[in-house]
Amino acid sequence: MQNTINAPASANTALRHLRDLPGPRPWPLAGNLPQLRALRIHQDVEAWSKRYGPLFKITFGRTPLLVVADHQLVNAVLRDRPDGFRRPSISAIISEEMGGRPGVFLAEGAAWRDQRRMVMAALAPHAVKAYFPSLVTVALRLQQRWQQAARDGSSIDLAEDLKRYSVDIIAGLAFGSTVNTIDGGEDVIQRHMDVVLPAVAQRSIALFPYWRYLKLPRDRALDRHLLALNHAIDELIAAARARLTADPARRERPSNLLEAMICAADEGGSGVTDAAVAGNVTTMLLAGEDTTSNTLAWMLYLLQRNPAAMQKARDEVLRVAPDPRGFTIEQMDALDYLDACAQEAMRLKPVAPFIPLEALRDSVVGDVQVPKGGLVWCVMRNDSVSDTHVPNAAAFDPERWLVRGDGAIDKHVSMPFGAGVRTCPGRYLALLEIKIAAAMLLSSFSIQSIDTLDGAEPEELMAFTMSPIGLRMRL
Ligand code: HEM
Repeated sequence: MQNTINAPASANTALRHLRDLPGPRPWPLAGNLPQLRALRIHQDVEAWSKRYGPLFKITFGRTPLLVVADHQLVNAVLRDRPDGFRRPSISAIISEEMGGRPGVFLAEGAAWRDQRRMVMAALAPHAVKAYFPSLVTVALRLQQRWQQAARDGSSIDLAEDLKRYSVDIIAGLAFGSTVNTIDGGEDVIQRHMDVVLPAVAQRSIALFPYWRYLKLPRDRALDRHLLALNHAIDELIAAARARLTADPARRERPSNLLEAMICAADEGGSGVTDAAVAGNVTTMLLAGEDTTSNTLAWMLYLLQRNPAAMQKARDEVLRVAPDPRGFTIEQMDALDYLDACAQEAMRLKPVAPFIPLEALRDSVVGDVQVPKGGLVWCVMRNDSVSDTHVPNAAAFDPERWLVRGDGAIDKHVSMPFGAGVRTCPGRYLALLEIKIAAAMLLSSFSIQSIDTLDGAEPEELMAFTMSPIGLRMRL
C-alpha cells in the first residue's frame, strides 16, 4: 500500500521520482559527500535548500536522499511514525555491531513502544518534580564556580561550564549518585561516551565499513571503551536494584531516572528487559546533555546581544524567582518570558537542525515518490528563519511566542523537539534545567560580556548537536 503525505490536491498531478529532482551534481562513487563539510553539514544542506527549493535530491555514496525543507511536509513526515517512517536502520546497525544496548532513540516497533512508555513515565512532569531539588543543588554549585570566576575576574568557557552543569544533572538523575564535574570531578561514563558518540556518527556516514574487515588502533580503543561503558552501567543497575530490594518503599517514589525505569520495567507486561534499561540509561546521557547545554549557551548569547530582551528576562526573574536557594518548581513554571526566550533561541539555533528518517513503505512526500527503504533528510531550520513564515525572522524577539490568537506564530514552523509520537520526551526536563540555570545567572550576577575572542558571531559546529564555538563569558 502506498502512503501519501501532503500529496498535491489534484490527482492528475504527475508524481516525481527522486531521479527527477534537482540537486547538487554528485561525484562518481562518493556522491555529494565530498561537497559536504562534516562539521558544517547542516549549513551546507540548508544552503542547498535555498538554491534547490523545498524538495531536492542529494546522494551519500550511491545512496540517494530526499531533502525536505518545507515545515508542513517535515511535520507530516515526522508524524507518520511509527508506521510510515523510522530512524535510519544504518544507525541501529552501527550501534549494534559496536555492542551498544538498544535504547528508545534507535528502537523500532514493539520494542520502541515498550521502551517509550517506560521513558515517558520516568520523564513525566510529576516525576521530574521529584528530581527538582537535585537540579537546584547542581545550579547552586555552578553559581559558586561562577562567583569564584567573578571574584578572580577570569573569563568562563560558557559551553564547557554549561556542559558540566547538564552532565551533573543528567548523570546524577540517571544513576542516582552524585556526579560533580563542576568542581573538577571526573565522570567515568562520560569519558567513554565522549569517545563512543563521535564514532557512531562517523561510521553512520562512512563510505566503506572498513572496521568490519580491519581494526585500526582507534577501533580497538573504541572496543575497549564500549566494554568499559557497558560494564560500568551494569554495575549501576545492580546497585539500584539492591537499593530497591533493601527499601521497597522507594518503588512508590523513585528518586532518579534509573530507579524509575527499573520500576516501570518490572511492572507486569512491560516487555522491557534489563538490557533495555541499560540501553536507555546511555540514551538519556546521549540525548539529554549536549542538547540542553548548547541550547542554554545559544540562548544566553542571544540574550546578551539583545539588551532589551535581556532586561525583560532579568526583570521577570527578579520579580518571580529572586533567590536561587529558594527556587521552587512553581516559580520556574511561572517564568513565561524566559520560556519564550528559550523557544526563540531554539528557532534560530536548533541544536538538532536536521532529522534523518527511512521510509518503512512506499510513500509520497509532497509530489515525490519515496520507495520503501528510501531515506529522507528533514531540514528543521528553513521556514523557521524565513520572512515568509516568520515576520522579521532574523530578529531575536521572544515576544512573538507570547502572542495569542491573531498574529500568533505558527508553532509548527519551529520544531526543536521534533514532532509526532517520537517527539522528545525530555523537553519538560530540558526547559526546567534551562530556566533554573538562566534564573540563577540573572538573579545573581551582572554579565559584562558573552562573546567570542574576536567579537564575531560564534560559528555553529555540528558534532552530534549544534554547538557554538568559542563563547567566553565575563561576570
Ligand atoms: C533543549 C534540549 C533538547 C532538545 C532540543 C532535544 C531535541 C530532541 C529531538 C529533535 C529529538 C528527535 C525527535 C523526533 O524524532 O521527532 C529528541 C529525541 C529524544 N530526546 Fe531530546 N532534546 C533535548 C533534551 C532531552 C533531554 C533532557 C532528554 C532526557 C533526559 C532527552 C531525551 C530524548 C529521547 C529519549 C529521545 C528519543 C525519543 C524517541 O525516539 O522516541 N532529550 N530530542
